[in-house]
Amino acid sequence: MKVTIKIFRYNPEQDKKFHYETYVVENAHETDRVLDLLEHVKGYNDGTLSFRRSCAHGVCGSDAMRINGHNMLACKTLVRDIGDQITVEPIMGLKVVKDLIVDMEPFFDNYKKVLPWFISDAPTPADGRERLQSPEQRARFDESTKCILCAACTTSCPSFWASDDYLGPAAFVAAHRFVFDSRDQAASERLEIVAETNGLARCHTAFNCTMACPREIQITQAIGELKMATVTGRVE
Ligand code: SF4
Ligand code: FES
Repeated sequence: MKVTIKIFRYNPEQDKKFHYETYVVENAHETDRVLDLLEHVKGYNDGTLSFRRSCAHGVCGSDAMRINGHNMLACKTLVRDIGDQITVEPIMGLKVVKDLIVDMEPFFDNYKKVLPWFISDAPTPADGRERLQSPEQRARFDESTKCILCAACTTSCPSFWASDDYLGPAAFVAAHRFVFDSRDQAASERLEIVAETNGLARCHTAFNCTMACPREIQITQAIGELKMATVTGRVE
C-alpha cells in the first residue's frame, strides 16, 4: 500500500521557523509502525530527519510524538490503526531541538521534584533480605510502576502547555508510585510537594493524560488518589 506521511521539520541552524515536508512511502504494509515509516524516510528520502527512538518495542519511552493530533509512541502505532494519511509532529509544550526531538529537561526536572526514589530510615531486616509486603500492599501502587517516562501524558495536558513549571501527570504518577508503597517513609514530604502551587491544584481533570498513556495507566485516578491523600493524610 501507499502511505503519505507529513512530517514537522525544523533545523535551528537553517530555519527561521518550522515547516512540514510530505513524503510518500510506496510498498508500505498495514502492519508497519509509524517508526518504520520514519526509518524509511530517513533511510531513503532525507538522512537529516531527526527523531528519538531506542528499543522500538514500547519499553524505553523515547519515541512519543504527536501522530494525527494525538500523543502516541511511534513504535506502537500501526498504519492499519490510523490510515494511510499520517501527520507526525513533536510532542507539545517542550522546546523543539530539531524536527521531532524536543528538550526533555523541563519534563525530567519536574519528575525529580517529587523524589522518585525509595526513602526509608528503617534498618534492613536482620537476615539481610528484602523488606516484605503483602500482595495487597504491592498491588496498591502496581499501576504506577508501569510508567516508562515517555512524557505523552504531560505533553498532552493543557495546564502543562500553559506553563512547564506545572509538575504534570508523569510526576504525579511517580509520586503515587512511592506515596502508596508501604515500605517508603517519605509520603508526607512528597504530598507536600505535589500540593504546592504548581502541583495538583492545576489538574483540571481533562483526562488527556489517561487517554494518551501508552501503558494504559489510569493516571486521572492516580491523581485523584493523591489529591485525597493530601487532604486526609492517609496513604494505605
Ligand atoms: S504515565 Fe504513561 S504517558 Fe505518562 S510518562 Fe508514564 S508511561 Fe508515559
Ligand atoms: S522506541 Fe522505545 S518505546 Fe518506542
